[in-house]
Amino acid sequence: RSVTLIGAPLEEGSGRRGAAMGPAALRIAGVDQTLIELGHDVADIGDLRIVPAMDLPNHPKAHNLRIVGAFTRALESSVHDVAASGRFPLILGGDHSLSMGSVSGMARYAAGKGRPLFVLWLDAHADFNSPATSPSGNIHGMPVAFFCGEAEFAEILPKDRPFVDPKNVFQVGIRSVDAREREEIHEHGVNVFDMRAIDEQGIGAIMREILDVVIKANGLLHVSLDLDFLDPEIAPGVGTTVPGGATFREAHLVMEMLSDSGLVSSLDLVELNPFLDDRGKSARILVELTASLFGRRIFDRPTRAA
Ligand code: ARG
Ligand code: MN
Ligand code: MN
Ligand code: MN
Repeated sequence: RSVTLIGAPLEEGSGRRGAAMGPAALRIAGVDQTLIELGHDVADIGDLRIVPAMDLPNHPKAHNLRIVGAFTRALESSVHDVAASGRFPLILGGDHSLSMGSVSGMARYAAGKGRPLFVLWLDAHADFNSPATSPSGNIHGMPVAFFCGEAEFAEILPKDRPFVDPKNVFQVGIRSVDAREREEIHEHGVNVFDMRAIDEQGIGAIMREILDVVIKANGLLHVSLDLDFLDPEIAPGVGTTVPGGATFREAHLVMEMLSDSGLVSSLDLVELNPFLDDRGKSARILVELTASLFGRRIFDRPTRAA
């Protein structure tokens, strides 16, 4: 595949410093070289540079909206344009508020192709708050509501932009949801596979179910990987650790099945905070998972009959 790396050194959505170092750490961990060794064509357009969007309000319940909004606009257009040029946008984050831009850009691209966009949200958190429901005011807890059109807190993107249908969002690994956020998720029909579902059903069965829905609908699939999807024992370099996360093998199986499916159109790697990491361990694991998504295998498997 032809892959374009887009650095999004955004940390202002997270309520603490450090995630802006994420793109640099992912490059140092060898994300570009790893993809090249797997036979892909890789272009790195570097880090997005923004100036705060002064037309946006200083929202008391959406911290740093002018910076997050500026990144949202920049990513929406660069991710759309990379996809439209036939390349795979791989976003190096950056906190999770960047998905307001990346997913919105893919939603516009998919709408232009007349295909539905599905989102696989690998995260400890549902990120379905809005300024009205958020207990923290941190925008990285709001991107899913934003790209589903359920959290319009300022005119960040054009009003007529395409939204993602919340029923096309699959959340896997969830284990920390706020009270009002929980109600919103139910009301809008977001598909949640929490950690208990993984324990009971197994991650393989869950992924098969999700992939079958996307295949039937001839959809595009955007994958958003929050580092805190993983158990903090194996991935400590994140500001919002929650115990009891996905194991190393569960996470790799997700990536391997995604790779086999050929359905993935775009990927976010988010919430890596190198300032909190343990000697690059978390940056490395994100790169290893990316390698599995892009075709690295222990052994080849016979392909599953369609
Ligand atoms: N639910 C909490 C909030 O809205 C935490 C969100 C954490 N999100 C993340 N992308 N790490 O503030
Ligand atoms: Mn998240
Ligand atoms: Mn999270
Ligand atoms: Mn609503």
